[in-house]
Amino acid sequence: MKNILLCFLGLFIIGIVLGDSCFLEISPSRVVVKFGDPVSVSCVASRPVRVLGWESIIGASHTQHDLSVQWQVDSLTDWIEEPICYGVFFTAPRQCEEKLNLVLYKKPDSVSIRLNHTSPLVEGRKYQLLCEVQNVAPVQYLVLRWYRGQNEVYNHSFSELSTAIPVQVSSTLLIVPNRADDGAQYRCEAELELGAEGPQPSPTVQSEDLSIAVQYPPEFPSPEEEILEISEDGDMRLNCIAVGNPPPVYTWSSSNLQEKVDNQPVLKAALLGPGVYTCTASNILGKRSKQFVIKHKSKGV
Ligand SMILES: *[C@@H]1O[C@H](CO)[C@@H](O)[C@H](O)[C@H]1NC(C)=O
Ligand SMILES: *[C@@H]1O[C@H](CO)[C@@H](O)[C@H](O)[C@H]1NC(C)=O
Repeated sequence: MKNILLCFLGLFIIGIVLGDSCFLEISPSRVVVKFGDPVSVSCVASRPVRVLGWESIIGASHTQHDLSVQWQVDSLTDWIEEPICYGVFFTAPRQCEEKLNLVLYKKPDSVSIRLNHTSPLVEGRKYQLLCEVQNVAPVQYLVLRWYRGQNEVYNHSFSELSTAIPVQVSSTLLIVPNRADDGAQYRCEAELELGAEGPQPSPTVQSEDLSIAVQYPPEFPSPEEEILEISEDGDMRLNCIAVGNPPPVYTWSSSNLQEKVDNQPVLKAALLGPGVYTCTASNILGKRSKQFVIKHKSKGV
């Protein structure tokens, strides 16, 4: 308690020495107001005044009797409002003023997300995701967050800007998608972090989800060459299933094959004799081949 008191005394003395103690106190000292909402702030003088008042474009007022005066507006819609409480005193310092820390905010009209390319995308290439935020204020309290699914992947602050009026801002996210990103959903979120005096939770507007399709060349999950022995029950399959987007088409070739076999990922080998069979899986991004070698069952093993 003693320490706190000393501390107060210290601040008070510093205030007088620096000449910035105005004997005026604004309460609350910081207000966060939604565009169009009412606001009411009081200014209290701690010594006798000739005049005590609020200087502002709207809601200006003054008193010559009271030690307290209100700045009050029913619907605040003026972006450049900077209310100041002033006091004119009988003794020195004869005049002083305090500025109200006022934040007038507005949620964005819209938050939209788009790609610099029409989906589908190609694996390994670079693309830009663009997030656009329309009509938000004050932009220095805005944080734009990028999400992939549930995970925040990037955020963008605008604290270096200092406009009070609503503006449009955007953020870009560079992506190099791979096959695991096929079907991934991206979105961006605009959040106004207005501090302790602001609304809780912070005003937030989300974009739609943007889901991306990623194309990639065929690839075999199993080895690219298989050696098989003719089994006795004759139930043998040559499995050429490959993953790829768009889904691969398959062709088979072998000197043993009389007829053309079209678009069968799995060949039933029951009727096939020994030999080499080559399967090719292809889509618009490339082709891969896989060889099957069918041997006679080795005797005596
Ligand atoms: C999209 O953005 C990427 C990365 O900046 C760029 O390499 C690519 O050329 C852009 N594509 C189009 C269609 O503008
Ligand atoms: C932005 O992201 C960084 C990490 O990438 C994180 O440390 C920081 O807290 C985030 N900022 C905000 C305002 O969420």
